[in-house]
Amino acid sequence: MDEKLPEHIAIIMDGNGRWAKQHLLPRAKGHEQGGKTVQRVIDLCRERGIKWLTLYAFSTENWGRSKLEVAALMKMLVKYLRERLPEMMEKNVRMHAIGELYMLPENARQALQESIDATAGNTGLNVVLALSYGSRQEITAAARALAEEVKAGRLEPADITPEMLESRLYTAGMPDPDLLVRTSGEMRISNYLLWQISYAEIHVTDVLWPDFDRADFDAALAEYAARERRYGKR
Ligand code: IPE
Ligand code: IPE
Ligand code: MG
Repeated sequence: MDEKLPEHIAIIMDGNGRWAKQHLLPRAKGHEQGGKTVQRVIDLCRERGIKWLTLYAFSTENWGRSKLEVAALMKMLVKYLRERLPEMMEKNVRMHAIGELYMLPENARQALQESIDATAGNTGLNVVLALSYGSRQEITAAARALAEEVKAGRLEPADITPEMLESRLYTAGMPDPDLLVRTSGEMRISNYLLWQISYAEIHVTDVLWPDFDRADFDAALAEYAARERRYGKR
């Protein structure tokens, strides 16, 4: 249908709380519904032959939410990873994770590692979960790693290149997102992939994440296909 397809889509899955409020339900129900959308979008990406999908599931700043909500989110994460693993295998999906993963509760880290290991040989869609993820923290850690090498005498500050910093980000080896989608209308990036989205096309929709469906996905792809990417060169 469209000539230009993004290789990598990154999504800020926002609006679960507002969806729950609209339906007079507790916030956790919104997150639960959001989990269903994740599955829907994974299928849509597979259908379209998208190679990479990075999902902002939990930000560094989200640790500041109520204990109740954080616990509900962590519980959902474990449940999601365990329940969906057979399906990921069947669908040839390879799971990855980026973020300060050591911050996650033990059972979440375990479930995550299990699904990363089990799917390591899969060759279809790559799904990257951004968990306890913050872009400033990521870039800071990369800068620190480079500083350590300078300190150890293995590197001259003047020799540091963008590629060297890039290879120390959590996303090392992954292509940059071509398309960034944010649901529920906020015109902000919220500390997501700041380095990696330098030249991504941005699509913001008012649709709340739990409501995001095939038509919304197609609209994002159509908008992407109609854009002219210039990379500053014309
Ligand atoms: C996004 O939905 C999911 C997470 C941040 C985990 P929100 O919970 O931020 O929903 P709103 O923004 O309050 O509607
Ligand atoms: C961004 O959404 C983080 C995730 C989607 C996981 P937030 O709802 O946390 O971001 P803000 O508060 O609108 O910036
Ligand atoms: Mg939000």
